[in-house]
Amino acid sequence: MKTLVLYNSKTGFTKRYAEWLGDMAGCTVMPFDKGRTTDLATYDTIIFASWFHAGTIQKLNAFKKMKLDGRNRIVMVTGTAPPGAAETDTAIQNNFKNDDEKYKVFYLPGGLSYEKMGIGDKIMMAAFRKIIKKANGEDSEMYKRISHSYDNTSKEYLQPLVNYLNSL
Ligand SMILES: Cc1cc2nc3c(=O)[nH]c(=O)nc-3n(C[C@H](O)[C@H](O)[C@H](O)COP(=O)(O)O)c2cc1C
Repeated sequence: MKTLVLYNSKTGFTKRYAEWLGDMAGCTVMPFDKGRTTDLATYDTIIFASWFHAGTIQKLNAFKKMKLDGRNRIVMVTGTAPPGAAETDTAIQNNFKNDDEKYKVFYLPGGLSYEKMGIGDKIMMAAFRKIIKKANGEDSEMYKRISHSYDNTSKEYLQPLVNYLNSL
């Protein structure tokens, strides 16, 4: 079975997962924008890897528009939330309102990199920190989580996805 991973990554966490997955499961890996102009006919499974941005999976709509009938479609998404957080389940449901049966979705804990973020995202994060500080306080788990750069990526989080690929 041939599998292609198309990744969209701004600060590198999603790209790292895509490359790890390529090694662990023997998939071809390329940036999403290159994949859009690549012949996908030879692949049985397409994995779209991206990240949460204010609750929206970046470039997911462009992925949904690709002609992938008859292929397994998987989405893996990174974010700041820890694994199993209820907020992540809700965000995933919101991104797949009427078409969730077409996609198998996996969430992977990413990180935050203030050093690699664009200026617009830095401003958004500053506004978000202000809201969380007011609502939950400086000692809240969420405020602490988003106040500094960190890296929560780990290969072990990919195992459920690797198991799923092996089951296809
Ligand atoms: C402006 C902004 C908004 C974000 N919104 C969310 C969010 O709604 N939920 C979440 O879990 N993570 C959110 N994140 C965290 C990113 O999804 C996380 O840093 C991700 O791993 C980045 O992936 P990348 O390094 O591949 O670009 C946000 C990050 C930024 C900069």
